This record gives sequence, C-alpha cells and structure tokens, in this order.
Amino acid sequence: MSLNINSLLIHGGIDGDYATGAVNVPIYQTSTYKQDGLGEDRGWEYSRTGNPTRAALEKLIAELEHGKYGLAFASGLAAISTVLSSFKAKDKLIVSDNIYGGSFRILDNVFKNFDLSYEIVDTSDIKAVENALTSEVKAVYIESPANPLLTITDIKAVADIAHKKGKKVIVDNTFLTPYLQRPLTLGADIVVHSGTKYLGGHSDVVSGFIVVNDKKLADRLYYLQNAIGGVLGPFDSFLMIRGIKTLGVRMDRHIENAKEIANHLVDHEAVKKVYYPGLENAKGYEINKKQADGPGAMISFELKEGYDVKRFFKSVKLITLAESLGGVESLVCHPASMTHAAIPKEIRDEVGITEGLIRLSVGIEDVNDIIRDLDDAIAFSKE
Ligand SMILES: Cc1ncc(COP(=O)(O)O)c(C=O)c1O
Repeated sequence: MSLNINSLLIHGGIDGDYATGAVNVPIYQTSTYKQDGLGEDRGWEYSRTGNPTRAALEKLIAELEHGKYGLAFASGLAAISTVLSSFKAKDKLIVSDNIYGGSFRILDNVFKNFDLSYEIVDTSDIKAVENALTSEVKAVYIESPANPLLTITDIKAVADIAHKKGKKVIVDNTFLTPYLQRPLTLGADIVVHSGTKYLGGHSDVVSGFIVVNDKKLADRLYYLQNAIGGVLGPFDSFLMIRGIKTLGVRMDRHIENAKEIANHLVDHEAVKKVYYPGLENAKGYEINKKQADGPGAMISFELKEGYDVKRFFKSVKLITLAESLGGVESLVCHPASMTHAAIPKEIRDEVGITEGLIRLSVGIEDVNDIIRDLDDAIAFSKE
C-alpha cells in the first residue's frame, strides 16, 4: 500500500520487528555476527558493513526522499565527505555561495589538498551556474534554503542545465527535510542531510544521510561508506527512527511559529533586515513555493545601527545561544563567529554573512514566549 508522508514517517522503512512483533525496530547493539560456516553468513557480517537497525533507518530515509538507496552516517559531514570522496583529483565542484561553514571547510581545507577544487557561485543565478559549468566541473553542490542566508536555488533549473552538460547535482536538504522538499524528484542526483537537525529533532543525536536513485552511484557510495567507515551506530539509528516519526507534526508547528516570528521581526522598529523564504517579498519566495511544501523554520536577521548583537546574545533566556538547529527548542547563533567562522572574512562579507547577522532556529515552544524573549533581548541590546 503506498503511504502518504505522515504515515510513511511512522510506518516507512522496516515497520517494527518481524521476528517478535515488537512495534519498534530493535537496537542491534552488535559489532559482528555469527557465521554458520565459511561463506555462510545470515546476511550480516560486520556492523561497519551493515547493521539491521541502521538498515531500517536507511530504508526509511530512502523512502522519505523518494529515492531507492539510503545510507546513514555518524554526522552530516561524514555523509558529505563520503560524497566528496567519490570524486577524483582534478575534478571541480560548483558550490552555492552560502553553505554551512563546515561543508565549506572540508572542501577548502581537506579535499583541496587532494586536488578536488571548487568554485563559489551564486546558484540562485541560473546564468551564473551555466557559465561556471566548464569541462572540469563534475557536480553542482546546492543548499536550498542555504545556511545562513536562506537563499533559494531553483533545483530543477540547475539540474536541467547541469544534466545537459553531463554534471551531477548534489542537494543538502537539511533545512527543509523530505517532509517539505524532495530534491530527487526535482532532478537532483544526490541528496545529503545533517540528520542532527530536524530529522532527529531533539538535539540529542549527531547523524547524516545520503540518498540516491542510481544503482551504480549507490554501489560506489556503499563501497565508500564501508571503506571509509563513518557509519551511524545502532543506538543512534534507533533514536533517529524515533525522531523521524514526529517530523511532520514538529515541522508544521515549527513553520507556524516561524511565520509569526518572521512577520513580527519585519515589523520591529529595531530590525534592519529579515531573511525568511516564507515572506512573500523574499527573493526566491515563488521558487521555494514551487519546489517545496513550505519555507521551513530558519530565520536570519540583522539589527539596526545602535543595537549590539553581543548584548542580544547575552540576554536571550528561553532561546538558547548554541550551534546547531532544527531541535524542538529555539536556538540562536552568530554565524560569523560560530557556524560559519571557517569561511574567510572576505568571502563572508561578500556573501552577506555580516558581523551583525543573527540566525534563529525557531522551536516549537509557545510562540508568544519566543516573541517575548526576542523582544526583551532586542530591547536589552540597545546601546
Ligand atoms: C546545512 C548543513 N549541512 C551539513 C551540516 C553538517 O552536519 P553535522 O553537524 O551533522 O556533521 C550542517 C551542520 O550544521 C548544516 O547546517
């Protein structure tokens, strides 16, 4: 029976335990498996190569992303580095001009040493992407909405021009999750995730995913997953399955709160600029509406002259000053010195990741409490 997303979140992948009838997938906390004779394993050999709890989660994420093959990793960056390891020296990637600082760092400080180069392009500008697709380019790497400026890239338009020239498209779908956006259905070849964020949803697991449709690509990525070994453990796989069950209800509430907060910030006398793809006048609003089922719940904003961001961060109370995002609790961060500090200042300035930028991950608390906390912190930040 084909299931709609809200049922798939709960019953997708492997639904419970066939052996005992337990309604939850058990935690197979084992590193290895008994073999009945030489060459006679029961489908499992060693937990880096495969583990039943992880396999259930991998099947679930593949189904949610409308993909055929899913792979689970110990972090988003373990997933991303496994994808990057599928390229060769002298290959080049085009990357969105604002992406998570750690994704930039691994390209700039790790893979560049192995002669995998990259070029930063404003991927919301399709002409700019087209012009950048030279012969050595093998793939375009997109975040949409991008971290931290929530820039929207037309995934289908990029996939169409990239495929015409034989290039692959990789989409980091962390900010929207498959509940809201399914990049493979828009033409992307590879989807990656930091599962640490909305998919897990409770700020208690670090995890990552890759999902693809192509068998040859999947075989190569499985090979690399096993060869490199950054796999997700059984207990964390269990926690991810548990978190994903409530993704739909959480996302609905996250978005409801975020819309109200974004509008409140737009009207606030102390706020200079608000970045949120759910605002009708946001650049990319129409494209996001076309390719996704909602704008997500990440908001970035800047305060006007005369307000001190340091004082703002010092005085939030309900909202927690912390790295990460996507949990049930509201988190706030300073991208320039925290999540995006690995990006050189010249690039940050050029892209718009200013010293005054504040990134808010809107939680699912009572929206009036979040707004009150924001207002109090803004009032306190007045110099
Ligand atoms: C969009 C995005 N992609 C990838 C990552 C990296 O994921 P992880 O921290 O799980 O390694 C992050 C982390 O913040 C992120 O925001």
